[in-house]
Amino acid sequence: MSGLELYIKDEEAMTQLGHALAQQSAGHGVIFLQGDLGAGKTTLSRGILRGLGHTGAVKSPTFTLVEPYEIGPLRAWHFDLYRLADPEELEYLGIRDYFADDDLCLIEWPQQGQGYLPQPDLEITIKTHNDGRIVRLLPNSTRGESWCVALATLT
Ligand SMILES: Nc1ncnc2c1ncn2[C@@H]1O[C@H](COP(=O)(O)OP(=O)(O)OP(=O)(O)O)[C@@H](O)[C@H]1O
Ligand SMILES: [Mg+2]
Repeated sequence: MSGLELYIKDEEAMTQLGHALAQQSAGHGVIFLQGDLGAGKTTLSRGILRGLGHTGAVKSPTFTLVEPYEIGPLRAWHFDLYRLADPEELEYLGIRDYFADDDLCLIEWPQQGQGYLPQPDLEITIKTHNDGRIVRLLPNSTRGESWCVALATLT
């Protein structure tokens, strides 16, 4: 499957998509989130984390680069690499450790970390369209493919 393109009309629908992605991923894998400032990357990440059962706030990790979450037995890491000056900095942050245990890694602005990030299971690109968003889901592993196949049957 070559991917999915969905029209997501508002923030509520974006949250629902996050819940569906949470259910599919079951808290494992690497997801890239791409799109302009304000596209909805953090909104979708919040939906995914809440869908996994996180009940607290989901802040944008713009200044911290990464925000950790413990959700029952699951761990998730939410990155925002917008302010990363040089991808090499990820080496000093011990970036490899984050990906070692097959936790869920949500990465906003992955292009800022090019060369230092693993291959994603799923690449999400969000674009403004009318009052809503076009969300493109591009699988990049067999796992990502199975998520997309399942999501296609929901929509
Ligand atoms: N599907 C949607 N339709 C309309 N508005 C949306 C949709 N999804 C999110 N929004 C709104 O768009 C804004 C997106 O902000 P958000 O912080 O999620 O963007 P972002 O892509 O993470 O930006 P940044 O690059 O600055 O981190 C929020 O105000 C949210 O309510
Ligand atoms: Mg954001």
